[in-house]
Amino acid sequence: GNHSPRGAVRAAVLPAVGEPLRLTVIELPEPGPGQVRVRLAAAGVCHSDLSLSNGTLAQPVPAVLGHEGAGTVTAVGAGVTAVSPGQRVVLNWAPSCGSCAFCGMGEPWLCAHADAANTRPYARGEDGTELFPGLTVAAFAEETVVPERAVLPLPDGIPLTDAALLGCAVLTGYGAVHHSARVRPGESVVVMGVGGVGLAVIQSARIAGAGRIIAVDISEAKEELARSAGATDFVVASGQTSRQIRKMTGGLGADVAVECAGRAETIRAAWSSTRRGGRTTVVGIGGKDQIVSFSALEIFYTARTLTGCVYGNSDPAADLPVLAGHVQAGRLDLSALVTDHIGLDGIPDAFAAMQQGRGGRALIVY
Ligand code: APR
Ligand code: ZN
Ligand code: ZN
Repeated sequence: GNHSPRGAVRAAVLPAVGEPLRLTVIELPEPGPGQVRVRLAAAGVCHSDLSLSNGTLAQPVPAVLGHEGAGTVTAVGAGVTAVSPGQRVVLNWAPSCGSCAFCGMGEPWLCAHADAANTRPYARGEDGTELFPGLTVAAFAEETVVPERAVLPLPDGIPLTDAALLGCAVLTGYGAVHHSARVRPGESVVVMGVGGVGLAVIQSARIAGAGRIIAVDISEAKEELARSAGATDFVVASGQTSRQIRKMTGGLGADVAVECAGRAETIRAAWSSTRRGGRTTVVGIGGKDQIVSFSALEIFYTARTLTGCVYGNSDPAADLPVLAGHVQAGRLDLSALVTDHIGLDGIPDAFAAMQQGRGGRALIVY
């Protein structure tokens, strides 16, 4: 996109929770010490952006949303050593600090300061209003300014537009399968919710050598997408979902379930579709009002595991080269996640499509 030397760029701003996004021009500063300026090539629209805009997830506003992006470094601030102008990067929306207790334990996805940048204004609106960066990286804009730790150098051979998907859906989905559920060859895997994240989970389960991959969605329209990503079976969600899956798996239930819808009923159904000793990983982010219940007896008797999963329980800097290897070897098809290429003005339609269960990822191409 065009931008003046002063740093005016087009962006989609959430003025307040519950309000529609406003397409406007914002004023970006030059990167300060430890900061990097990036010109976005593309940004995916994730359900978490919708959740921030409607208040299911909270962060300071007004904010520029967007957290699944890739682009090229255009300028670096004082003291930045990790990248220089011209470097192609994927944005990391949860940059770890490297020094808190969780980082010290080798669990950077739980970093206590991963969202530190969200609470500091990073740019201004045309009228001078201070703007916050949505999930640190503010990717719904032609350019952004982020902490050095929020950029991950992109290995060669991957188009920048495809690379945007690595930043959230694919790191999250791949990590859920490989780090959290630890799917072993031949295991049966249920994938509950076939959006961008669910599609990445299906592809990752295929890469892990899963046997059956049973995709579940409330929307029948998701079957074709699920199957082309590697699902062997598709179930339309209903009150009978877990019973149906147990029947499909010889009466036992699946080895693994990965929940990618962020709802109490899908978490419960995922858990109920696993076998005794089965593992359920919850990737979806539901609201505080979503309460899941289990009886004490069934927890004992079924001996199942239920676990949360943040950003795929991954160290993004370590996983990105691994994912790039899968892409280059033809095992991971990033562009298959994308069903709509849009501009910044297409975000409202992408949100509506999500709410109606239509399509895979919508990708903003700048
Ligand atoms: N049963 C089965 N599937 C459902 C149900 C249900 N009751 N309700 C919704 N779904 C499906 C939707 O039809 C949709 O296909 O879940 C899918 C969710 O996909 P998206 O809205 O595209 O969300 P995505 O961006 O993939 O994110 C999934 O992960 O990171 C989190 O906040 C994110 O909670 C969200 C989840
Ligand atoms: Zn996301
Ligand atoms: Zn930390």
